[in-house]
Amino acid sequence: MDLMQRLAEFRSAEEKFQWHGTFADYFELVKATPALTRLSHGRVFDMIMAAGMQPGGDHEPPRYEFFTEELFGMEKPLQQVVEYFHSAAQRLEVRKRILLLMGPVGGGKSTIVSLLKRGLEAYTRTDYGAAYAIEGCPMHEDPMHLVPDALRADLNREYKIYIEGDLCPHCRFYVDRDGSAVVNHPWGRDFRRHAFETVPVRRILFSERHRMGVGTFTPSDPKSQDIAELVGGIDLSTIGEVGVESDPRAYRFDGELNIANRGLMEFIEMLKCDEKFLYVLLTLSQEQNIKTGRFSMIYADEVVVSHTNENEYQGFVGNRKSEALQDRIILVKVPYNLRVSDEVKIYEKLLSHSDALRHVHIAPHTLRIASLFAVLTRLTPPKKAGMTLMKKLKLYDGQDVENCTTKDVRELQEEAPREGMDGISPLYVINQLSRALIQQGATFISPITALRSLRDGLDQHTSINPKDRERYLNLIDEARREYDDVAKLEVQRAFVYSFEESARTLLNNYLDHVEAFCNRQKVRDPITDDEVDPDEKLMRSIEEQIGVTENAKKTFREEILIRMAAMARKGLKFEHSSHERLREAIEKKLFADLKDVVKITTSTRTPDAEQLRKINDVVDRLVTSHGYTTASANELLRYVGTLLNR
Ligand SMILES: Nc1ncnc2c1ncn2[C@@H]1O[C@H](COP(=O)(O)OP(=O)(O)OP(=O)(O)O)[C@@H](O)[C@H]1O
Ligand SMILES: [Mg+2]
Ligand SMILES: [Zn+2]
Repeated sequence: MDLMQRLAEFRSAEEKFQWHGTFADYFELVKATPALTRLSHGRVFDMIMAAGMQPGGDHEPPRYEFFTEELFGMEKPLQQVVEYFHSAAQRLEVRKRILLLMGPVGGGKSTIVSLLKRGLEAYTRTDYGAAYAIEGCPMHEDPMHLVPDALRADLNREYKIYIEGDLCPHCRFYVDRDGSAVVNHPWGRDFRRHAFETVPVRRILFSERHRMGVGTFTPSDPKSQDIAELVGGIDLSTIGEVGVESDPRAYRFDGELNIANRGLMEFIEMLKCDEKFLYVLLTLSQEQNIKTGRFSMIYADEVVVSHTNENEYQGFVGNRKSEALQDRIILVKVPYNLRVSDEVKIYEKLLSHSDALRHVHIAPHTLRIASLFAVLTRLTPPKKAGMTLMKKLKLYDGQDVENCTTKDVRELQEEAPREGMDGISPLYVINQLSRALIQQGATFISPITALRSLRDGLDQHTSINPKDRERYLNLIDEARREYDDVAKLEVQRAFVYSFEESARTLLNNYLDHVEAFCNRQKVRDPITDDEVDPDEKLMRSIEEQIGVTENAKKTFREEILIRMAAMARKGLKFEHSSHERLREAIEKKLFADLKDVVKITTSTRTPDAEQLRKINDVVDRLVTSHGYTTASANELLRYVGTLLNR
C-alpha cells in the first residue's frame, strides 16, 4: 500500500464531513430533514434501527443487528435497552431516567455501552445521523436553541419541529453582545447583538477521543474527587481577565456531562459514587439541566448509561436516602448468556481478538465443552422430577430433549428468575484456555486440556467460595462425561470406513427380517438363495441395544412396519434416521461390533502392521474430514483407548 496516498485519501474523505454555514443555512437543512433536530435518545434509537432488526416471535425477543456481531445470547436485555430508547425517543417520561445495567462480572455490560458509544461516533458520520452545533459553543449545543421562546410554538405548529432547552451561558453571553465588544470569539467582530440567523453553525462528529458527544465518568476516591470532573468549573486562567466568577468566560464547560451533551455519557460503577455526584445526575435526568455553582442551570440533553453489580445495587435499593434516585432509574438486568452455542461464539470472538491464540490449533469440541461447563455453572437446578441440569442446558440450547417442549423452557425460566446472575464468566474461561496454551510446548488445546485448566484455575481463584468450588468441580466432571461420549462417537465413526453406508446396510437387512417376521414369511438367503426363517438373532442383537425386551419385540417391530408403510404411501423412503430409537439402536450395534477393534487398536503399546495401518487411516480421516491435526487426533485416540479399557 502507498501510505502517503492513502493518508491523502483519508484526509479528503474526512473533509467531506466539513460543513460551515449560518443558522439560516442550517435551518434550510432542517426543513429538508427535520430528524436533524432530534434529541439524544432519538438519535440512539434511530442508529440502532438503521442497522436493521429481525422481528421476534411469540415468546422470542427480536434481534437487533446493531448488536448481533458482538453480543450473543443477550436478546432479552438488549430488547429492554432498545425499548427504553424507543419510548425515550418519543419523549415519553422514561427519557428522564438513567439507564442502569446490572449484572455479574464479565457479562457484557461494558460491551453494550461501548457499542453504543462507537456506534454514535460512526452514526454522526452518516447523512441521516449527522449532528450540527453552534460554532464556538463549549457544549456544542443544538443550534435550534437560538430560536427565542416566543417563536417556538409557531415553529412547532408549522414545521413540526420541537425545540427543548436554552442557550448555554457561554452562547447567551455572546448572543447578547456585538462582536466588536469582545475579543477572540469565533463569531467574529461583525456579529451584531441578537442577529440569531447569522450565528455560525458547523457539523460535528462525535468522538470520545476529541471529547465531543461521548464521555465517560469513573468514580475515584470519593473524598478527593472534584465535582468539576462532571460539570466543569472555574477557569483560573481567565478569571483574572474577566474579573467576576459569574462571567461565563471564567467557566470551563469541560466536565464529562458537558462534553457528552447531545450524545451519551457512560457512568462507570455509578453506585460507588459519592452522593453529591448522584444529585447532579438526579437534576440532569429530571430537568435536563446540569446544576453548577455559578450558573443555576445549564440545559443538557444526553443519554446516561451506567452499570453496576448486583451487590452494590442491593445496597443502593436498601438505602432510603437514595429513594429519589431509584425512581429515576431504569434497571436492565444483564445476566450471563445461557445458551451453549452462543457461548461458543463468545469464545470464538474473544480468541480471534487474541494474537497469541489465533494461530494455535483448537481441537474440535474444545470450545463447546468449555462452554458447556460455563453454562452449567450458571444454571439454577430445576425443580421438576426427571429434569436434570444437563437436560435443561440442552433445552435452553434449542436441542430436542425427550418429552420436552418450548413450554417447558418457559416454565424453567420462570421458576428461576435469578438465573445467569452468577456462575463462571466468559473471561475466566478464556484466561484458563490461554494458560493451557502457554504451557510449554503446547501446540493445540483439546477438551481435556481445557477442562484440566478450568479445574486448576478454581484453586487459584480466590473469589470463589468453597461451596461453589465444590459445585464447579462436580460440573467439570459432568462436562467431562459428556465429552467422553462425544469422543467415543467421534473415534468410532472414524473407524467405520463409511459410517452412513454401513448404517444403511444394517438397517435394510434388519427391515427385511422384520417384514418377514410380521407377515410370517420367509427371507431369501443372499448367498444360497434358499428360503430361510427371519434371523431372530440378528433382530434381537439390534433391539437389545435400546432395551427392547423379548415381550415388547413384536409391538416394536409392528410399529416400525407401520411407520414404513405410512411413509411409503407418501412416497417417502424409510431411512435410518426416520425412526429416532431405531437409529440409536443401529448406531449402538455398529459401535458394539467395532468396540473390540477400536479398543485393541487404540490401546496396544506395540501395534502390529495391520493395527498400525488402521490407526494411520483413522488419524488421516480425523485430520482430513473432522478438523483435527495429527497431534490432536493421536491424543484423541489415546484418550478413547483408555476410556474403552476401563
Ligand atoms: N453475551 C456475550 N456476548 C459476547 N461477548 C460477551 C458476552 N458476555 C461477555 N462477553 C465478552 O466478555 C468480555 C467481558 O465483558 P464486559 O467487560 O462487557 O463485561 P462487564 O459486564 O462490563 O464486566 P464487569 O462487571 O467486570 O465490568 C468482553 O470482551 C465481552 O465482549
Ligand atoms: Mg464493565
Ligand atoms: Zn452554547
